[in-house]
Amino acid sequence: MVLKFHIETFGCQMNVYDSDLVAGILLNNGYVKADSIHKADILFVNTCAIREKAVERVIHKMEQYAHLKLKKGKLKIAGILGCIPQYNSDRLKKELPYIDILCGPDNYDQLPQMISDCLKSKKLQENLDLKKEQNYEDILPFTENTHSAFVTVIRGCNNFCAYCVVPYVRGRERSRSVQSIMTEVKDHVSKSITEITLLGQNVNSYNSDGMNFAQLLNKVSEIDGLRRLRFATSHPKDISDELISVMADNPKVCKHLHLPFQAGSNEVLKRMNRGYTREEYLSKIEKVRKEIPGIALTTDIIVGFPGETDEDFEQTLDVMKRSGFDNSFMFIYSERDLTFAKKNFNDDVPKKVKAERHKRVAELQKQLGIEQIGKDTGSIKEVLVESVSKKRSTEMIGRTDQNRMVIFSRQDGVKEGDYVHVKISRADGVSLFGEIVNLRDGGR
Ligand code: SAH
Ligand code: SF4
Ligand code: F3S
Repeated sequence: MVLKFHIETFGCQMNVYDSDLVAGILLNNGYVKADSIHKADILFVNTCAIREKAVERVIHKMEQYAHLKLKKGKLKIAGILGCIPQYNSDRLKKELPYIDILCGPDNYDQLPQMISDCLKSKKLQENLDLKKEQNYEDILPFTENTHSAFVTVIRGCNNFCAYCVVPYVRGRERSRSVQSIMTEVKDHVSKSITEITLLGQNVNSYNSDGMNFAQLLNKVSEIDGLRRLRFATSHPKDISDELISVMADNPKVCKHLHLPFQAGSNEVLKRMNRGYTREEYLSKIEKVRKEIPGIALTTDIIVGFPGETDEDFEQTLDVMKRSGFDNSFMFIYSERDLTFAKKNFNDDVPKKVKAERHKRVAELQKQLGIEQIGKDTGSIKEVLVESVSKKRSTEMIGRTDQNRMVIFSRQDGVKEGDYVHVKISRADGVSLFGEIVNLRDGGR
C-alpha cells in the first residue's frame, strides 16, 4: 500500500524550505502527498524553538492531533521535525508520548529509513545529530507554489547572538555549492516560477567555489526566465559595499532589504553580541538609502532584553524613527536554554514593562508604515500576482519589487504568477490599494 504524508510547518522561511526538502525526499522514496491531514498515514510537523511561545504552540497543536493517531487509527506515524526536537527532545517525549519520530534539521535524508524502522518496530525513532557538512546538495525540494520559491544557500549560524538558539539547533555555517543552487533555481524556473528568494540565517556569509554572496546574486540573476531575486536575512555587520552595488545595479535583484537591528542602545547591542553599534547601523542604512533609491527596509526588534532600561528602550524607538522601516517584526525577549544570555544575565525586565514596550514599538511602526508605504500613492507599480484575496473574491493580492503588498480588483484572464501594472490610489500602514492599468503592451 502506498502511504500518504502531510507536512505542517512552523517557524522561519528556512523551515518552509526544509519542509519542501522533506516532501522531495519522501516523494523520491515512493510516498505520496495526502490531500489533507485527515487522509494522511504519516504526519510531520516541522517546528521552531526561537521563542517559548513557538514551542508551546506546537505542543498544543500536537495535543490536539493526538486523537488522529490514538482514536481514529488512520494515522500510522506522527513525527516532529526541526528545531524543537533539536532544542529539547526530552520535553517532547514526556509531554507527547504518542510521537513516533523526532528528527533534527540535519537528518531529513534519514526519514525514509526511520519511517520503515518505525513501522516494523513500533518504537520511537530519534535522529538528532548535528552534521557540519549537511547541505542536501543532491535533493530537489518539492514545492506546490507556482510563481515563487525559496532556495536555501547557506545553513547554520556562527554569530551566537546572546539571546538566540539558532546556532545550537542549526549548527555551524556551511554554504551550498554554486552548481547545486543553480540546478535548483533552473528547475524552479523551468516550472514557471519567476521569483526566487535565496535564504540563510546570515546570507551575507555565503562563500563557496570562490564566490561571495554578492557574486552569487549576479550569477543566479543570469538565469533566463527569472524575473525577481530576493534574499534574507542580512546581518548588519556583514552588508558589504559590493552587495549594495549589486542591489543598486542589477535590475533583477529586488529593492528590499531586511536588516534586523534588534536594539537601539549600544549597551544592549554589546550584551546581545551583535557586533555593531547604533551609529554603524544607522550609517549602513544611510548608505543603502543613498545608493539604492526607492529601497524598502524592514527589520527585527527585540524588546525587554536583560538589563534594558527605559533610556535604552528610547534608543530603539529613535533608531526606528531615523530608519523609516516599511515593517518591523517585533518580539518580546524570551529566555532560551543553552544561550549566553540565559547563562549570564537575569531575565529582569518585568513582564508588564516588556508588554508596554512592545505596544510602543508596534504603535510607532504603524505610523512609520503609513509614511513609507504611502509614498507609493499615485505611482504605477509592477506587481507579481500571488492569489485571489481570501477576504474578497473580487480582489487579488500581489507584491511590488519592494515587497509591498498590493490589493487590486480582479480582471478577467489575470491569474496567479502574472505580472501586472497597478496604479496605486491609496495606502494604509500595511498594504497598497489600486487598479490594474493596461499599458501599451497590455500592462502585463
Ligand atoms: N538570522 C536572522 C533571524 C533569526 S530569528 C537574524 O539574525 O536576523 C528571527 C528573529 O527572532 C531575530 O531577528 C530576533 O529578532 C528574534 N529572536 C531571536 N531569538 C529571540 C529570543 N530569544 N527572544 C525574542 N526574540 C528572538
Ligand atoms: Fe540568531 Fe544572531 Fe544567528 Fe540571527 S545572526 S540566527 S539572531 S545567532
Ligand atoms: Fe525557528 Fe529554527 Fe527558524 S528556531 S526561526 S525554525 S531556524
